[in-house]
Amino acid sequence: MAAAFDGCLRSLVCRLLNGRQRAGGDLSRGGESQRFYFPKDFRWGAGTSAYQIEGAWNEDGKGESIWDRFSHDGRVDRKETGDVACDHYHRWRDDIQLMRRLNLNTYRFSISWPRVQPSGEGAFNPKGFAFYDRLIDHLLEHGIEPNITLYHWDLPQALQDKYGGWASRDVTKLFADYGAACIDKFSDRVSTWATHNEPICTSQLGYGLGVFAPGLKDDNLAKQVAHHVLLSHGQAVQAARAAARKPVKMGIVLNLGFFEPFRPDNAEDVAKAFVDWERECGYYLDPIYRGMYHEDAIKGIGEIRDGDMQQISQPIDWLGINYYARNLSSVVEIPAPLPGSEYSDFGWEVSPQGLRGMLTAITKKYGPVPLYVTENGAYFTDVKDKHGNVHDPKRKNYIREHVKHVALAIKDGANVKGYIAWSLMDNFEWASGYNKTFGITHVDFATQKRTVKSSGRWFAKTAARGWIDL
Ligand code: FCB
Repeated sequence: MAAAFDGCLRSLVCRLLNGRQRAGGDLSRGGESQRFYFPKDFRWGAGTSAYQIEGAWNEDGKGESIWDRFSHDGRVDRKETGDVACDHYHRWRDDIQLMRRLNLNTYRFSISWPRVQPSGEGAFNPKGFAFYDRLIDHLLEHGIEPNITLYHWDLPQALQDKYGGWASRDVTKLFADYGAACIDKFSDRVSTWATHNEPICTSQLGYGLGVFAPGLKDDNLAKQVAHHVLLSHGQAVQAARAAARKPVKMGIVLNLGFFEPFRPDNAEDVAKAFVDWERECGYYLDPIYRGMYHEDAIKGIGEIRDGDMQQISQPIDWLGINYYARNLSSVVEIPAPLPGSEYSDFGWEVSPQGLRGMLTAITKKYGPVPLYVTENGAYFTDVKDKHGNVHDPKRKNYIREHVKHVALAIKDGANVKGYIAWSLMDNFEWASGYNKTFGITHVDFATQKRTVKSSGRWFAKTAARGWIDL
């Protein structure tokens, strides 16, 4: 089935590609809707992260991570763990074939720090590096560009035990050293790197609310952690550039809130949305691009040393945006759920216009910085039919509408370089475990069988032809 689908699609793709040589513009069709052609070098990808898919939690010398500890302590729904997850550590070859079927030209994944440096400091683990080495080589062989994140939340537990994790400034330097070691190993082949994924989740969910590893509940600590994570980002960017064998493009991946006025024709709501967005920028974007925090962001940070802001605001080459839903601002109470709005099964409002709004707002404020949508997708409950297919029209529509709004943002002038769907496949969704599925590929966790969902088929088709009707 998969092979037949693959074959058909490939020949269709060849025909379409041969007939298409335009880039980055639109073609009107006699007053009908417009067709938007993405730039020729646009990246079409899908994403994962190490702890969510790899499994092999203690194989080949890997050290324990804070997520191993957190899940083994029974703090995930149904006491699930990432011990096996998608078993990608052993099935990576097949997973690259899956990426080919999806016509991806980019794959975003993260390196597990404790896999390559079990204690987070000192000795590196050659077998850990060897895993990523093979993965990278095979991706490149198949024309898929790696987009690697150095930290997607799986801190070596040893650093939590010894230093208190990101609460300690010492860990920022250790992160830069680890990052430099990865760049030293792989920058001959990999140019696109992110330091952190969603630092606000590391700080707020991990140290403030305690719902993610390491599970601490201390608001002030969370503020300090946020500062340390940003500092470690700046240090790692600097260390990476010094260690690079070939020029690297360094970035960071943020999940910003984008605020729209609840009542667009109400001046007070409009003003509040603007204030909320400005404050939001003041937590991550202003420190990174302008070397300064919003006054609300500074409150509670115990220590900011001279030179920190300069370190944090190292120039970066690209910015990754993870977008799932918008935020609304109002001076009145906002009804929830919002009448007329659609929600994913995670309860997140389906609001593709917010993605366009955010991409253009960033461009307006910081200039045409290179942007990637590094995550976008939705959890909708999936059902396999009697033929073993998964039809997920809601997810397909979700992704299609968001891709359209990326096109519209490009038309607005945003410098968007790529769209990376979350996720390549169903996986371990952190504290929610395995039943909150975001994949464009279904995973049967009992057999590890992968089945491309209809959203994945749509994505494969769109990635191959490189256009979308608006
Ligand atoms: C993001 C995470 C990613 C996944 C999606 C649903 O916040 O970066 O790992 O959990 O949400």
